[in-house]
Amino acid sequence: MRKILIVGNWKMNLNTSEASLLVHRLAERIKIHRDIEVVLAPSMLTLQPLSLQIDRRKFRLAAQNAYFRDEGAFTGEVSFTMLRDLVHYVIIGHSERRHIFDETLDTIRDKVAAAVRNEITPILCVGETKTERLDGETKQVLHDQLMSGLSNLTAKEVGAAVIAYEPVWAIGSGDIAAPDKVADAVSYIRSYVKDVFGARGANKLRVLYGGSVTPDVISGYLGISGVDGFLVGGASLNYESFSGIVESTRKWQRRHAEVENER
Ligand code: 13P
Repeated sequence: MRKILIVGNWKMNLNTSEASLLVHRLAERIKIHRDIEVVLAPSMLTLQPLSLQIDRRKFRLAAQNAYFRDEGAFTGEVSFTMLRDLVHYVIIGHSERRHIFDETLDTIRDKVAAAVRNEITPILCVGETKTERLDGETKQVLHDQLMSGLSNLTAKEVGAAVIAYEPVWAIGSGDIAAPDKVADAVSYIRSYVKDVFGARGANKLRVLYGGSVTPDVISGYLGISGVDGFLVGGASLNYESFSGIVESTRKWQRRHAEVENER
């Protein structure tokens, strides 16, 4: 069974002391869950101090970005090599990086490969814009982003990776994606991986949903077959809502296990 993964993407928020306070509050509320992995993606600046603060049985760390070269004259960048002992995951290809910082398909492909080369699990974000959805291009967009992003990986490496489906129009908008739309996209992602890399990789791969996730909406998504957790933005900055997401997921898991046992 795939372990549920809940990732808080703090984006460009919280200085070192604010980040430390949030982790402190989260640690008070979030218990150690064997079946749920909770990951925090703070700013690059706060990764190091938080790595000393966190209880590693409760939290793992992710970077929000990194550069694909291992070292050299690349002013302002941080490499995957520098992050390898600090983080388990790196978020790659987030729509804000694609759209605000003009990251191309090729750059994202190289970053995914650099993450794997440095033994960091990539969380590859994919998703369509509103216009692309209205024009019926969702699957084509997902296809292109997956084809390029995963193209340098082996089937085994794809199986160990994470893909986050984040429709761009649902990010930070409160405009939540209907579960049936998410179900279609997630099933397309897994079928693409199955066709190209085989059933084993497709079964192991974890697929997350992201976009205006709050504690109130998660049960609708957890019920979708193939959704293995969430990439949370705004709600991860608040200790009550983020711990609420973890707690509601745990309750859902328990209910689900009971129903399965009764069968
Ligand atoms: P929101 O949860 O704020 O919509 O952000 C989603 C996101 O971009 C996570 O990476």
